[in-house]
Amino acid sequence: MQDNRLLPIGLFDSGMGGLTVLRALTERLPCESYRFLGDTARLPYGTKSRETIIQYTLNAARKLVEQGEVKMLVIACNTATSAALPSLCEAFPGIPVQGVIKPGAKAAVRATKKGCIAVLATEATIHGGAYQRAIAELDPKARVVGRACTLFVPLAEEGWMEGEVVEGVCRRYVGDLFEGESRPDTILLGCTHFPLLKGALARVVGPGVSLVDSAQTTAEAVDEYLAAAGLATPSKERGSVRFMATDNTARFVRTGSLFLGRELKEEEVELVDI
Ligand code: DGL
Repeated sequence: MQDNRLLPIGLFDSGMGGLTVLRALTERLPCESYRFLGDTARLPYGTKSRETIIQYTLNAARKLVEQGEVKMLVIACNTATSAALPSLCEAFPGIPVQGVIKPGAKAAVRATKKGCIAVLATEATIHGGAYQRAIAELDPKARVVGRACTLFVPLAEEGWMEGEVVEGVCRRYVGDLFEGESRPDTILLGCTHFPLLKGALARVVGPGVSLVDSAQTTAEAVDEYLAAAGLATPSKERGSVRFMATDNTARFVRTGSLFLGRELKEEEVELVDI
């Protein structure tokens, strides 16, 4: 009989940003195995309609599952989580699905002292309102201001993390939010690409602002779920990680290393179509 505890965890992102979530997972749960799919052919999702995001997300999840069974799906993309989480749960009733919005909201509510949070995310995530709702559920009194920062995605995918241009773009998007007395004390990086710009953003908004993202809290949620469901691997050895991209694997290798925090090798990444 198959031991489901030994199956890998499937992760999906519209591009490479979700590798920040994979990084947190491999640090917290190093003995689990992972299969990561980046839909680099269709990035960005964040400027697309809800219907299109749902369709792409379902296709990507199907691809992950077709490649072999997974014991859990992690949607390592805020945009895909905010638009497609219910559709995914419906389409894959036998597989637990973990998104990144609730864990992100938890990280922000934990960090804020004044109850004033700026959510920076893609256009689709901000307009869908999923973060605003998830934060309100945890802390109904929290004041949340959302800002779509569309250009952060290509900057991060290009590996531009610092410098005049990056700080200029950060200032243009969020500078005004941090001018007055009522400035937020917490920034929630509500897109898996944005942790790469943390340094530049911190310089632009100045001291006294916590910058949090959903990577650690998502890893925490996966850990808790696996333990509660009896699905944690019994292995004591480091698990395997398999990468798939839908376009330009050479680019995935080059920039993916920045998100993952370790050198990726060409032979680790497979080109797939969805
Ligand atoms: N990584 C995606 C997210 O977390 C955004 C990138 C995109 O626009 O596709 O929202």
